[in-house]
Amino acid sequence: MDNAAKMSLNGQEFELPVVVGTENEIGLDISRFRGESGAITLDSGYANTGSCLSSICFIDGEKGILRYRGYPIEQLAQRATFSEVSYLLMNGELPTATENAQFRDGLTYHSMLHEDMKKFFEGFRHTSHPMAILSAMISTMSTYYPEVEEDDIERNIIRLMAKAKTVAAFAYKKSIGHPFVYPKNELSYSANFLHMMFSVPTESYDVDPILEDALNVLLILHADHEQNCSTSTVRMVGSSGANLYASVAAGVSALWGPLHGGANQKVIEMLEQIRDDEGDLQKYVDRAKDKDDPFRLFGFGHRVYKNFDPRATILREQCKKVLDRLGVDDPLLGIAQQLEKIALEDEYFVKRNLYPNVDFYSGIIYRAMGIPTKMFTVMFALGRLPGWIAHWKELREDPKGRINRPRQIYTGYQERDYVPLAER
Ligand code: SDX
Repeated sequence: MDNAAKMSLNGQEFELPVVVGTENEIGLDISRFRGESGAITLDSGYANTGSCLSSICFIDGEKGILRYRGYPIEQLAQRATFSEVSYLLMNGELPTATENAQFRDGLTYHSMLHEDMKKFFEGFRHTSHPMAILSAMISTMSTYYPEVEEDDIERNIIRLMAKAKTVAAFAYKKSIGHPFVYPKNELSYSANFLHMMFSVPTESYDVDPILEDALNVLLILHADHEQNCSTSTVRMVGSSGANLYASVAAGVSALWGPLHGGANQKVIEMLEQIRDDEGDLQKYVDRAKDKDDPFRLFGFGHRVYKNFDPRATILREQCKKVLDRLGVDDPLLGIAQQLEKIALEDEYFVKRNLYPNVDFYSGIIYRAMGIPTKMFTVMFALGRLPGWIAHWKELREDPKGRINRPRQIYTGYQERDYVPLAER
């Protein structure tokens, strides 16, 4: 393996040191390149650019591999709990029984919001999108725990992990005009969330173990995904020294976009549109291929996975299992399966390596749980929270960490003189 790549520019030779990761990924270090050549590199959408060294998550897009701290996603989804996986991502190792018990206690006993925080919900309209509420309330937490600026980062990580599910459930209750339901200490993370979502003061919701397990798997599958748009946003904001809550609130906003975490909501809306259009699947596949039509098949395609998204494979099986065990016959599942079949046989999709991604099947399971479509991206955010926090911690603990500040190539006017208003 060469230890440097050679580049020549305007008759000058430059050496770019080669960086090799533990999975033999190769990077060219250009950190000195502008200083030596006066030129910068340009990579719209950062598809070919690494922003950091990280030991949290590994993805092989060609082989459909996803590992959290070295553990394959298939094993974690099948055998771990979300709290174990959260601990793993944020601390680097699976917790011992004692560590797991202490961590789970933290996620339980910090679930309540400060009573004054409930007043913020009075200002939201019942039609407010829950992602706006989640981002606002996470940012607001920094006003209740100002000491987040000091060194008790671990306590604030626990607070954020524990309270985010409560904010999410309260946002749902606000949207339907129901009173907030407080967490129950005896329940698991997933069961507590479902309890707060669906219990009412007059009747406690019996959490179906099938749904508790399904939510546990969904949260694990969404927990981290290396330098995706929202995680890179959390790192960008955190690199300025912004506190944990401010950095994660920015990640929530980035995730909201329909090309990112907002896709799971758009998938269901797309499937419902197809259902209501007499199930004319080919029409929508043709629209997705038409460059003059802005319509895209939501839930298809991925920047990294050019073969299959291992999370979609797990969710496809989970979807059938949950609906069968619940005896739910959701016509949208049939449409999704037919759409997948048509797309995977269509030359346009095959040529561009467009396969179902994590968002394609997740919404159908959320629907089976009774979670409304507008809450789907909030569910993604609850899952991604430990990943965001893990990356925020990693950048903060990097002794060589610097503020993220990319350059640009200017394409505007060259120098010109001011023209007084009277002469314009
Ligand atoms: C997530 O980064 C992550 O890891 C994200 C994520 C995570 O866990 O954090 O995995 C979660 O965000 C999953 C993706 C959810 N988004 C969607 O399902 C929205 C639909 N998908 C696309 O918009 C798109 O595939 C992206 C955004 C996912 C990826 O976009 P890229 O990498 O910029 O690819 P591209 O837009 O350049 O597309 C390449 C080609 C184009 O056609 P040509 O210009 O080559 O002719 O593929 C076409 C695109 O038009 N294309 C699609 C398509 N996705 C890409 N055409 C129709 N339908 C689609 N869904």
